[in-house]
Amino acid sequence: QTRSVQVKLVLLGEAAVGKSSIVLRFVSKEFQPNKEPTIGAAFLTQKCLLEDRVLRYEIWDTAGQERFHSLAPMYYRNAQAAVVVYDVTKAASLEKAKTWVKELQRQANPNIVIALAGNKIDLVQSSPSGSGSSSAAESEDEADDATATPGEAATSGAEAENLRQVPREEAQAYAQEAGLLFFETSAKTGEGVTEVFTEIAKNIPIE
Ligand code: GTP
Ligand code: MG
Repeated sequence: QTRSVQVKLVLLGEAAVGKSSIVLRFVSKEFQPNKEPTIGAAFLTQKCLLEDRVLRYEIWDTAGQERFHSLAPMYYRNAQAAVVVYDVTKAASLEKAKTWVKELQRQANPNIVIALAGNKIDLVQSSPSGSGSSSAAESEDEADDATATPGEAATSGAEAENLRQVPREEAQAYAQEAGLLFFETSAKTGEGVTEVFTEIAKNIPIE
């Protein structure tokens, strides 16, 4: 007989870093290339199975636009977990993430489990050598160097690495110093997304 516990989780981070996309990937295994900005907040639930127990996440996906900032305390108050998201191709979004972490550490539940997630890593991964397309350029036709569009070229090889504005090591060092779990994710490919929620689940204290 497994026990089921409710865990209230909040997502925070700058607008357009991919908070809603991460939740959509976790809950529905889907990705929407043109996801609309969240207004206020969205509420979703999803079960998470661990070896010895089942958690039911009650997820508050907040809006990143600045005009909604003042609503955030309503959502992180009483939260047992938070995922603070930044975009690996946007250095300013890590700075915004750090201000969210500070706010959580000052104002939220002192036992809150916080994960830092650097999203959109599909945009910075170089393609495996020899293959013309990366996961970020899922064209039907194998992208041929001579005919690749600028969009495809920007997501493969050395050029893709140039899109990265936040080195993994830098964000990871900050996360360690601040006592956060750390992940790099892609809501587009799904990489790292389930891990965020299962690792948080393992770190939630059992009552
Ligand atoms: P707000 O609700 O305004 O705070 O934004 P958000 O953080 O919820 O971002 P959202 O999930 O709406 O994603 C913003 C845009 O980035 C959308 O066009 C997504 O399709 C895109 N996006 C999200 N995650 C990824 C990702 O991992 N890779 C790529 N390539 N695009 C992504
Ligand atoms: Mg959103």
